[in-house]
Amino acid sequence: MKTAKKKIGILTGGGDCPGLNPAIRGCVYAAEKFGYQCVGLQDGWKGLVNGVTMPLDRETVEYAIMKGGTMLGTSRTNPFKEEANVRKCLANFKKLGLHALVAMGGEDTLGVATRLYGEHKLNVVGVPKTMDNDLSATDYTFGFDTSVTKAMEAAEALMDTGRSHRRVMVMEVMGRHAGWVALFTGIASAADYVCLPERKINTIELIAKIKASYARKRFALVVTSEAAVLPAEKADATKHELDQFGHHILKDRGMGERIADFIEKNTGFETRSAVIGHMQRGGAPTLFDRILGTRVGIKAAELVRDRDFGKMSALVGNKIVGVPLADATGELKTVSKEWFDMMEVLF
Ligand code: F6P
Repeated sequence: MKTAKKKIGILTGGGDCPGLNPAIRGCVYAAEKFGYQCVGLQDGWKGLVNGVTMPLDRETVEYAIMKGGTMLGTSRTNPFKEEANVRKCLANFKKLGLHALVAMGGEDTLGVATRLYGEHKLNVVGVPKTMDNDLSATDYTFGFDTSVTKAMEAAEALMDTGRSHRRVMVMEVMGRHAGWVALFTGIASAADYVCLPERKINTIELIAKIKASYARKRFALVVTSEAAVLPAEKADATKHELDQFGHHILKDRGMGERIADFIEKNTGFETRSAVIGHMQRGGAPTLFDRILGTRVGIKAAELVRDRDFGKMSALVGNKIVGVPLADATGELKTVSKEWFDMMEVLF
């Protein structure tokens, strides 16, 4: 009699980003090669809470390598918000006949994975993803390269029109807790100033630099993270709605617009702002993200095969290795001192 193949469930949680589909594909290809069968859980942890699945095999994922978003759907569902939902996750894991679960996500999704493994001994492995690149224990996450490439192209376009109209242009990019996207966009597009959530904006320096740049070339570009803070403004914590993981939802915050107003008032230069927003999170993954996604996806299947649960596949140097999930979710990776030093040179 033929024995049934062991089943691996795969889910993607949190904000989507380019590289998720290549990671799903890599994981499915490797898992099938090792003799497993895969199934997709739809819309992040919500799929496990409600037991909603979709078929996932080599054929389904064949051309996923070039597609943005996530074919499994995603959500910001946190099962630990309600104990009953954790119980549902455990019951559905059994009911669906899962041998292991591969959770692809950032600090929140992987935080849930860490707890399901630590507190409930579930066979879970993680795959790191986030366009914010703020996850610890991995050098880079897929999604970041594509997002910054898109933001860089948008910044260059803004510069063209800014140069023509002799204006200061301010571009706002995503990055809720970490300024990696703003920093890399600013470096790559030769911006005149970059504003990050990690350090309060030095307004005297900002105005002086914009005036100097404008005097030299009659336009300037500022790149700001959505979460940067102008010192005159109080970070009003109560103003924003919170998601299920307790993060502020930054929609309508308008950081770029406020910095643009500040610059115009304090320099007299005509200033415009633009927000790239969710456009930087969609679209086809870059080569880097296709390859990184594929590699960490394959590694996740290897971790399952080796029963190395409670681990996440990570990029360390140029190698893909298994690291404890808890190391990835303990602390966010924010922009560090060495990068601040580099900013002194560049901006
Ligand atoms: O995934 C993180 C992130 O991209 C943040 O940079 C941003 O603040 C947030 O997602 C936006 O999330 P949503 O898609 O829920 O608006």
